[in-house]
Amino acid sequence: MSGAIDFAGRVAIVTGSGNGLGRSHAIELARRGAKVVVNDLGGSTRGIGASAAAADGVVEEIRADGGEAVANHDSVATREGGEAIVRAAIDHFGRLDILINNAGIIRTGRFEDLSEEDIRSVLDVHVMGAFNVTQPAYRIMRVAGYGRILFTGSGSGMFGHAWGANYGAAKAALYGLMRVVAMEGERFGILANMLLPVAATRFGDEMGQGYMEVPSFAEDIARTDMGFFMDRASPAFATALAAHLVSDACTATQATFTSGGGRYAELRVALCDGWLSPDGKGAPTAEDIAAHWDTIREAVGGQSPRNVYDEFVSMPQLQGR
Ligand code: NAI
Repeated sequence: MSGAIDFAGRVAIVTGSGNGLGRSHAIELARRGAKVVVNDLGGSTRGIGASAAAADGVVEEIRADGGEAVANHDSVATREGGEAIVRAAIDHFGRLDILINNAGIIRTGRFEDLSEEDIRSVLDVHVMGAFNVTQPAYRIMRVAGYGRILFTGSGSGMFGHAWGANYGAAKAALYGLMRVVAMEGERFGILANMLLPVAATRFGDEMGQGYMEVPSFAEDIARTDMGFFMDRASPAFATALAAHLVSDACTATQATFTSGGGRYAELRVALCDGWLSPDGKGAPTAEDIAAHWDTIREAVGGQSPRNVYDEFVSMPQLQGR
């Protein structure tokens, strides 16, 4: 049995923690002793509007439970917003140990129909937002010689979700960002990882059903045991993993973990052994590539889900592992 995970003395920022997953993470970190900056712009799932109520409500909940928290209402989507969010941690609590990049919006639509605004707004919040908050946070962590950074990715980015080209591209970009932040941060005691959560939140309202027109996608949704899945869809399931990943108990870095439907697993980008072109013959031809196609694509174990639902199809069989 491992020791209790404790955040006493730690200061954390959770972006987008006025609702859903972020709210759950913020409450859990505070319950375990962290002082938390509850950041939330308070707009809609599509990123329209703003309101202080979301962040303020979560701060009230944390305080009512005896925890310490402060609200911040800046948008992660601007550099000034990112600076102000990090400054809130320093101004109120004097340090910064943990950053969970969680704020997010979603705008669905067929690839060919996404407007420039649909694409830019989603990239601005997820990708630029992660840069805007993580850079000033990292500078502080680097000087302190300690940091835990968690990026919130998505199966939509790593596997694909029909009608989510903008969102998938944004989430996949965070994988590349995480890999380099972790690589550069390790010698300063900064660990960075990525969480692929799945939870029933207000995000579902924007998803609609239009993507059911995509045959392979509809097929895998039909094969997914939604009842099994929905029993394990509260944000708390993802929060257990998030809390571990930003704790002292976590020594992993540069890694990606999925928490969908009660299954916890590391997601690795796997390289097939592939085909080595023979020495001394120069570059191979396109025909040589075709001739060795099966070897080039030969799988090396694990699973390669073709979309987010395909990730869940095999899950009920994992019970008891
Ligand atoms: P949510 O809509 O309940 O929470 C997102 C929060 O981010 C909202 O409170 C919103 O006001 C805030 N936010 C949006 N734009 C912001 C900005 N510019 N600055 C500050 N705050 C902003 O949605 P949910 O589901 O809790 O999503 C949290 C994160 O998890 C998002 O990054 C989402 O993409 C990701 N995610 C969620 C999944 C799910 O199944 N719910 C699956 C995979 C990833």
